[in-house]
Parts: sequence; structure tokens; C-alpha cells
Amino acid sequence: MKYTSLRSCWTLLALGASVLSPMAFGQEVYRDTTKSLEVRVNDLLGKLTLEEKVGLIHASSKFSTAGVPRLHIPPLWMSDGPHGVREEIGPDTWNPAGRTDDFSTAVPVGINLAATWDPEMGKLSGTTIGQEALVRNKNIMLGPGVNIMRTPLNGRNFEYLGEDPFLAGQMAVGFIEGEQSQGIAACVKHFAANNQETQRNSINVEMDDRTLHEIYLPAFKAAVKQGNVLSVMGAYNRFRGVYCCENPFLLNTLLKGEWGFKGLVMSDWGGAHSTEGSVRGGLDLEMGTNGPYEKNYLANPFIEGLKSGIYPMSLLDEKVSRVLRVLIATHAVDTKPTGSINTRQHQMNARKVAEEGIVLLKNDHDILPIDDSKVHSIAVIGRVATQKVAYGGQSSGIKAFYEVPILEGLLNRFGSKVTVSYSPGYPEIKRPRKGTQKPSVSDSDKALIDQAVKSARQSEIAIVVVGLNHNYDTESSDRPDMKLPAGQDELVSRVLAANPKTIVVLSSGSPVEMGRWLYRVPALVECWYGGMEAGNAVARVLAGDVNPSGKLPCTFPQKLEDTPTAAFNSYPGENGTETYLEGLLVGYRWYDAKKIQPLFPFGFGLSYTKFDYSGISVVQDTLPSQVVLQVANSGPKDGEEVVQVYVHPLNPSVPRPPQELKAFKKIMLSSGEKKSVALNLPANALAYYEPSRKCWVIEKGTYEILVGSSSRDIRLRQTVTIGSTMLVQD
Ligand code: GLC
Repeated sequence: MKYTSLRSCWTLLALGASVLSPMAFGQEVYRDTTKSLEVRVNDLLGKLTLEEKVGLIHASSKFSTAGVPRLHIPPLWMSDGPHGVREEIGPDTWNPAGRTDDFSTAVPVGINLAATWDPEMGKLSGTTIGQEALVRNKNIMLGPGVNIMRTPLNGRNFEYLGEDPFLAGQMAVGFIEGEQSQGIAACVKHFAANNQETQRNSINVEMDDRTLHEIYLPAFKAAVKQGNVLSVMGAYNRFRGVYCCENPFLLNTLLKGEWGFKGLVMSDWGGAHSTEGSVRGGLDLEMGTNGPYEKNYLANPFIEGLKSGIYPMSLLDEKVSRVLRVLIATHAVDTKPTGSINTRQHQMNARKVAEEGIVLLKNDHDILPIDDSKVHSIAVIGRVATQKVAYGGQSSGIKAFYEVPILEGLLNRFGSKVTVSYSPGYPEIKRPRKGTQKPSVSDSDKALIDQAVKSARQSEIAIVVVGLNHNYDTESSDRPDMKLPAGQDELVSRVLAANPKTIVVLSSGSPVEMGRWLYRVPALVECWYGGMEAGNAVARVLAGDVNPSGKLPCTFPQKLEDTPTAAFNSYPGENGTETYLEGLLVGYRWYDAKKIQPLFPFGFGLSYTKFDYSGISVVQDTLPSQVVLQVANSGPKDGEEVVQVYVHPLNPSVPRPPQELKAFKKIMLSSGEKKSVALNLPANALAYYEPSRKCWVIEKGTYEILVGSSSRDIRLRQTVTIGSTMLVQD
């Protein structure tokens, strides 16, 4: 992990100047960067009083601990979130502090990052945020969010990394490595099974062990064991009857025990519920509990319990050591790196991630890219083209230094050569109040559509921008359905009838239904919520300056009724409990098993060029360890392709999904270029989790290694045989 190398270079520096070592000046051991992290932690722990220790394990403001003023140790400062450094809040309320010096870079949202299928883009986002967090004096950034997209309706799908545990895990690792390379702690969240916003503070989640280990834990496990994440945020919900922030099975047995996690576990804000549960259930840092901070569960009540002998001091020291580990690892007691904020480089990083995550879903007759030397008029239609969304969505919202909406981006790119008109096309995208009738298309709406149709008819090309915003894709509530609101379907249909050269740009944080007009649309791109440079990214893709290379990190089902949670009626739960009856069959696992045709499958995305696959071979000793193939760019443009590897067990003795993603790689190929691609397979690529033995098992038998451009576009396949069943230590 880059951060380790940063620490090792500190050591080299110090060793080189050992005669001038910090100790030569009588500096405290815990401040001495030539000493190991553990030595420094134990030295500082030994210097703290009981009250000072307790001041480090609960909030003393909305986003900080108390620090240790006597030793000149600053508070540990936290900030949201996964999309940039949030504006200053509070300090003791949820209101913005109203400052003018807390604008920052808004990188694309999590689902946009996942759609890049490139952990290097995670690193780019993480590094950008880490550098800005240093300037804003933060120690911990509260992200990435990795909760699996179990239902398309989850309000926070936009923040997370899609429906597949392996993809989500690898993208999270890139992000974490980037952020922590800057000396900032990442915080993977929300652990665990926080897959909906409905009743998020209380819902009890039940699921079988295979579903837990094969679907809902792997992304967190990768963050810990591969990404070395320094902190984990417990989820609000309950798991098997116990609140996640005080759940000994999740926090002590799994996270700290089996996975060997050495960082700190913080509660989600208000996620702690008792002193006994927090103390013994594995919580290290209590955040967001309402009321006076000294009355926090891990504050005075804990002190009383320690003094009366209910709790041994070792329980306190274990928690404090974890907090000190993060505090020291983030340079709170030595020299912090300087960082940078709102730089042009950061803004270009945001644009790069946005571009890499744009998914070309349709391009009939190569209507895209738009050649601005041949096209003279473009009608841009749809209010989504003018909306700014970086600030929305609640905790992950960013007060961006600036934000380029889609229309502005199109004007920037085409405006000097092409006549670009704009019409709103539909009313503001607002959420109808619960219980109110969904407004049918009103007269004023019809007028908006008529105006849009007229502009489409008078232009060579129409670009209809549809989608959602944070009235729908938001923390604290789920979407009521998968439909496009505000009469957008009617608009698209009417514009298509007026101008067959219509391109649809969809900006959403999760799948939407499009069946009413999709078959008639010649071109469609999904651009998610692309951060502060979103508009420029979209325009550059539509103009062909960038060849789209994004792939769907989630299935786009035809309709809500096709989803697994609809089939089992297992969402949003009953009587406060939500049982994941669909088990392993989440996302493409479900649609494959039930042979349901989605609108667009997991891993799907087109390009302006063409890629051919050939010559598969599998390197196998006892287990298959690598897949090698050739990929050629046989099309007219340079471009990137995401090669995907799925494993398909033939005749398994236990129920298993038809195929599961186990490796992927994004490669750049010039037009006409052909190259050999090698993808490493993880040791447990063929394994399933065996609850009776609490371990992973690779069963004797045959498996197909499938290689493709999407989960439903398999180009090559090879069978491998495992001679005897084995257990896998992962
Ligand atoms: C919120 C969110 C969490 C966020 C925290 C602090 O409730 O669930 O993701 O980091 O509180 O804002």
C-alpha cells in the first residue's frame, strides 16, 4: 500500500539523519517517525489519563474527538465523504457552518466510479480527495460506501459501487489506496447489510451465511485485507437482531478476529445504542449520538463502569489503541503533508473519472459521435441538462468549487461551430408528496413538450437529457419505483417522432425503466452524476474526443417486477425485519439463473470502435491462476475495453449462481492494435462458502472460465478440472 511506502521513506530519511534523530532533541517516542507505529501507539497510550483516553473514543463535536490538549494532541477530525471533502458542518449542529473557504473538488459519485471498471480511477478519486482533506485539516474521510445494490430502489445506490461484490471490492481498494497514500484514513462503510434507506435506523436484516459471506461481506473484506483501510463505519441497521455498531459477531469475531483489522470502528452518526453493547460489541469510536457529549454511551457512563469495575481497563485500552493508531498514522502528532485543493489538476482528475464511467448503451448506425464539422444545429432538451447535483444526496453532497451541467458542457464543446438551442421539456423533477396522486401530464407540461418537439423538429439532431436527481437518489429514503418522473417518457416519445436523429442522455444514480421508447432510440448514454466536470465529460464523449469505455456496474432490468426482491417480495421488509430471501441471486446472478432478459446486462457498454477476442489459455497448477487471451482493436478508433472473466461451475453439488465475476482488466488498444492480456484469478475464484465448516471450499469437478465484454457477451470459454475437493484459506 502506497502509504506504507510513504512511512518507509520517512524511516529512511530519519535513519540517514540518525545523529540528528528526533530523540537527539528529547522528542517524545510517540512523535518519533523513526519508531514503528505500534511502539508509538503504546508510548502515547501509557501517557494518557483515564479521562483523556475516554475523550478519544466519543465525539466532542459533530465530526471530531476531544484530542489531548495537555500533550498538544489535536482532535481527530472526520469529514464526509466518498465524493469529496464536504463543506464545514456545525460544529454542534447539522447546519452548514456557512463558511466561504470550504469549496472543494466534487469527483463523480460512487456508481460512476464503479462504471469505469478501473481501480486506477478509484486511486485517482481517492488521491484527489486525500490531498484536499489535508488542506482542510481532516484525518479520516468517510468513504468509500460499498453496500451492494440489492434493489434498484435503494436511495443511496448512487453513492455505492454496484451489484457485484468483486467489482465493488476492487474499486474500493483503489479508492482507499489513493486516499491513504496521502496520509488520510479512509473509512469503508456501512458495515454491514445496509442495502436500503427505508427504516435504516432500525431494520433488522436476516440472511443465510452463504449469502453473507459470498455477497455482502467481500467488498468490506477486500477493503480491510487488500486495501488496509484504517477505519470502518458500522451501519445503522440491525443484523440478526443486534445493532451493527455493537454487534460482536460482525465487529469482534469477523472484522477484528478473522480478518485481523487493526484500525478503528466508528458508529454511523447515532448508530450506538448502549454502553454495554458499544463496550463489549466492538465499537471503538461513538459518533453522532444526540445530547451532551459527556453523556455519550462511551463517555461518562463508560467511565463509571470502569471505575466501578464492571469493565476492565483492557477494554478501554484496546479501543484507545485503535484510535491512536489512526491518529498517528494520519500525522496528528508529527508533520502532516501539505496537500492541495481546488487545483486544475484535481478538476481534470474529476473529469477523467467521469469520462471513464460514461456508458454507451446504444449507437445504431453510428449516429455517435457527433461530427461538429457536419452538424449545424442541435436541440438540447430536458431540465436535467441544467441541473447541478454535486451538492445533493445529503451526507455525500459537495459544495463544489464550480459545477458544469450537461448543457453548459455541450455549449463549451459545440457552441462555437453549431447552433445549440435549449428547451426544458418537462417540469422540475420533484418528489410527489406521499399519498398524492402522481400528476398526469398537465396542460403546462404539454406546452413544455410542444415547445421541445418544435425545437427538435427545427434541428438536425436532438439531445434529450433525462434522468433523476437527489429528490430521488438520496440518503434517508428509497425511490418509490424505477420510473422516470415528470413526464419524461412522454417527452422522449414525442421528440423521437419529430426527429429520428435523437440521442438520449440519461443522468441517474441507479437503473430506470426505459421500455416505452428505448427500442426507437438510436443512441443512449448513461452518464450518472459525474461531479463538477460532468457536462464537459458528456460533451467530450458525444463529440468523440473521448471514446466511451464505461461498463454497467449494475443490471438495468426491463421493469421492477423482474427484480429478485420483487419476486420474493423481500423488500423493504415486514414488522421491522428484512429477510434476504433471494439469497445469492442478487443482480445478474438472478437474471442469469431465471433467464430473464434485462434491458442492459451487468458489464455491458459499447465503444466507438470494435474489439475481437481470441486465443484463450488458462494457467493452472492445482488451481487455475491466470487467464491469457488476445484482444484486437479491429475498429476505426483507439479505445479501451474491459475484459471480464466469469466462473461457471458445471454440476455443483450445492446451489450456485450460473456465473460470477472473478477478474477484470481495462486495457487501451490503438486502432488495429492486438495485444496479449493476462488476468490473475484469486485463489478462491472457484470457491463457495461452506457454513458447516466456516470456510471456503473448492469442489472437485469441472468449471468453465468465461471471458467476455459483458456478462451476456461471452466471447471465449475454457473448461478446467479440479481433481479433488479442497479448503481455501483466503
Ligand atoms: C450519515 C451517513 C454516513 C455519514 C454520516 C456522517 O447518517 O449514513 O454515511 O458518513 O452520517 O455524515
